Amino acid sequence: MEAITVEHVSGLYAKYQDDLRVVRDAQRKFLRDRGKSMKAQLDDYEAEITYLLLRDVRPEVVVEVGTFYGWSTMWILSALRDNGIGHLHSFDIVDNVVRNVPAELSADRWTFTKGDIQQHPEKVPAETDYLFIDADHGSRFAHWYIENLFPAVPPRTPTSVHDVFHGRRPKPFSEGSVVVKWLAEQNIEFFTPSTAKAPQVTEQLAAVKKELGLDEPVRDSDHNPMIFFTLP
Ligand SMILES: C[S@@+](CC[C@H](N)C(=O)[O-])C[C@H]1O[C@@H](n2cnc3c(N)ncnc32)[C@H](O)[C@@H]1O
Repeated sequence: MEAITVEHVSGLYAKYQDDLRVVRDAQRKFLRDRGKSMKAQLDDYEAEITYLLLRDVRPEVVVEVGTFYGWSTMWILSALRDNGIGHLHSFDIVDNVVRNVPAELSADRWTFTKGDIQQHPEKVPAETDYLFIDADHGSRFAHWYIENLFPAVPPRTPTSVHDVFHGRRPKPFSEGSVVVKWLAEQNIEFFTPSTAKAPQVTEQLAAVKKELGLDEPVRDSDHNPMIFFTLP
C-alpha cells in the first residue's frame, strides 16, 4: 500500500468523491432518522479515511474490534459493498450492532462474534488484510493485541486504532501511549487526522473537502483521534 500521507488521502477524496458523497448522505440520514438511539463514535475524517483506504486497498478480509452501535461497521461495510469484494468479521462484547446495521449493508459480507476478542483469537482469520481497532482503551488491551493480534495477521496489514490523540500526546497509561511507543520502537510512521495532534492535516483536508463539495458535516464531533499505519 502507498504510504498514508495527507497528499495520498487528498487524492483518494478526489478519486472516490462520488461514492463517498452517497455514503455520507446515507450515514447522515441514518443518524438523523435514529436520533438519540444511535450512539456514533467515529468522527467524519477518521470514518471517511477508513472508507477511502478500504476502497484503495480492496481487502478481502477485514477485522473490526469494537462495533458498539455499528457506526464504524456501517462505514466499513459501505466500502466493501462499493468495492464489490470483501468480508467483514466484527467483534464486540455487546451486540447492539446487530439491530442497527441495515440488511442491505450486511448482506452476505458480515460475520459478527459476540464476546471478548481476547477469548476468541482463533476467530480472527489468518488471511486478514485490514485491521480496525476501537475497543478497550486501557494499556493492558493494547499489550494484548500487540502480542497476540498483530503477529496473527499477515505482515504489512493496514491497521487503525481509535482514541489515541485526544490531545497532542496520548493519555499516560492508555492504549494510545502503548501503541504509539510500540510504533516508535518499530520505526513505523503513523498518519492521524487528529485536530489536537495534527491541525495542519485537518486544515488541508478541510480545504480539499470544501473544493469537492463534501464539507457538510455528517457528525458534529471533530476530534478524529484515530491513527492509521501499516504493520511491519
Ligand atoms: C468506542 S466503542 C466502539 C465504537 C464504534 N467503533 C463506533 O464507530 O461507533 C468500543 C467498543 O469496544 C467493545 N469492547 C471493549 N473491549 C472489548 C473486547 N475485549 N473485545 C471485544 N469488544 C470489546 C465495547 O463493548 C464497545 O462497544
